[in-house]
Amino acid sequence: MLRVVVMVSGGGTNLQAIIDSISAGEIKNAGIVGVISNNYGVYALERAKKAGIESAVVCPKDFLDRAAFNEALLDKVNSYEPDLIVLAGFLVVIPEKMIDAYENRIINIHPSLIPSFCGTGYYGLKVHEAALARGVKLTGATVHYVDKGTDTGPIILQKAVEVKEGDTPEILQRRVMEEAEWKLLPAAISKIADEKESK
Ligand code: GAR
Repeated sequence: MLRVVVMVSGGGTNLQAIIDSISAGEIKNAGIVGVISNNYGVYALERAKKAGIESAVVCPKDFLDRAAFNEALLDKVNSYEPDLIVLAGFLVVIPEKMIDAYENRIINIHPSLIPSFCGTGYYGLKVHEAALARGVKLTGATVHYVDKGTDTGPIILQKAVEVKEGDTPEILQRRVMEEAEWKLLPAAISKIADEKESK
């Protein structure tokens, strides 16, 4: 079984999609061994609790500097002995040391068709605001491996989503989640888990 750690910052709808896919047997060879949030009190932590999954908060404000936070974050990740780390709306830059330690074992979901609307400053609603401002007719989501750049790692899966007349960033975000993200992220985990199982 692939040991998965999911890292979150907010509502955790992508975390929920993974939990549901495991319960439904759509993801067969993986289990979530821990959820890590950088924020206290976010709903993602509630979702983990409801599903009986261990969770932890590693918050930058609790540390003297970024280096101390990065070290604590890596220690917490290591404590779960994960095979795969899933960034499911984790809006913190991953420490280089973690990327080295878990090369090709960290994946991220991004709410656009990379290489559009990605990189530094493009996260959450800002991505959809930028897509609407540019007037694209198609957007979507991408699951990719995490390397040392921002949203530059190898692409695993992508799905396109239509932009509709009258969309607001919130409406578009919801459609991208429903039609792409919540399917794509479980599918990517399933693919990686099945590949490991068949080795
Ligand atoms: C998702 O839309 C995810 O793609 C995005 O944050 C949201 C988290 O929602 N991630 C990024 O923008 C990463 N650059 P959730 O907490 O409900 O899963």
